[in-house]
Amino acid sequence: MRNQIVAGNWKMNKTHAETEKLLSELSAKLPNTHAEVMVAPTYVNLLGAVQELESSTIEVIAQNMHFAKNGAYTGEISADMLQDIGVETVIIGHSERRAYFGETDAILKKKVAAALENNMRIMFCFGEELEDRKSGNHFNIVENQLKEALFELEAESWQRIVLAYEPVWAIGTGETASPEQAQEMHAFIRETITKAYNETIANEVSILYGGSVKPGNAAEIFSKPDVDGGLIGGASLVAEDFVAIIRAI
Ligand code: PGA
Repeated sequence: MRNQIVAGNWKMNKTHAETEKLLSELSAKLPNTHAEVMVAPTYVNLLGAVQELESSTIEVIAQNMHFAKNGAYTGEISADMLQDIGVETVIIGHSERRAYFGETDAILKKKVAAALENNMRIMFCFGEELEDRKSGNHFNIVENQLKEALFELEAESWQRIVLAYEPVWAIGTGETASPEQAQEMHAFIRETITKAYNETIANEVSILYGGSVKPGNAAEIFSKPDVDGGLIGGASLVAEDFVAIIRAI
């Protein structure tokens, strides 16, 4: 059975006080669920979040990390630093990192390797742009993103990978992929992994959908057989909305 996961990517939002408030609201309202629930606050609020959620089932995860162990990389943080404060999962390859911070497939591959070397879990994000979808190139783009960053990994490493398919045109735009479009792509991703590895790995990896998931559309998207949950941006910043999305799974 694949793990089902609902993760909130808070991006560059929430001060320290706002982070504490949202976490305490979430803890108080968290429904009973079989799904793993995760939140990704900003770096400066990670330690506080880990401490505040010490006795909670909600996992605190990081939005990004550098691939080097340490050194002269101003503004960056390492896998060791994350683990030292109790963070064991990191988002890698978010489209905003690719688009605004120049993260190429080659860089992402190094980040994946560094996280795995530290035995961390990776939530690997990928997805096509609007032009790719319009020109019918979306399957090729997704296949290449996976191939470039992940397909040279040892089979065992896949136990530490969670995939998040996030079509760029649906992120923060209010426009969601239809449940059918999400299902079609998720099935394609499993097929691609089956070809590169085998059916067991393809069937065991959790594939989340991300891009304007809201309380109103979550249940339908999550009902698709190859969709194992969601990576939620905007709607994860409001406790009631995030809780409603968790209920939907
Ligand atoms: P969104 O963001 O839910 O605000 O579209 C999703 C994401 O970027 O992970």
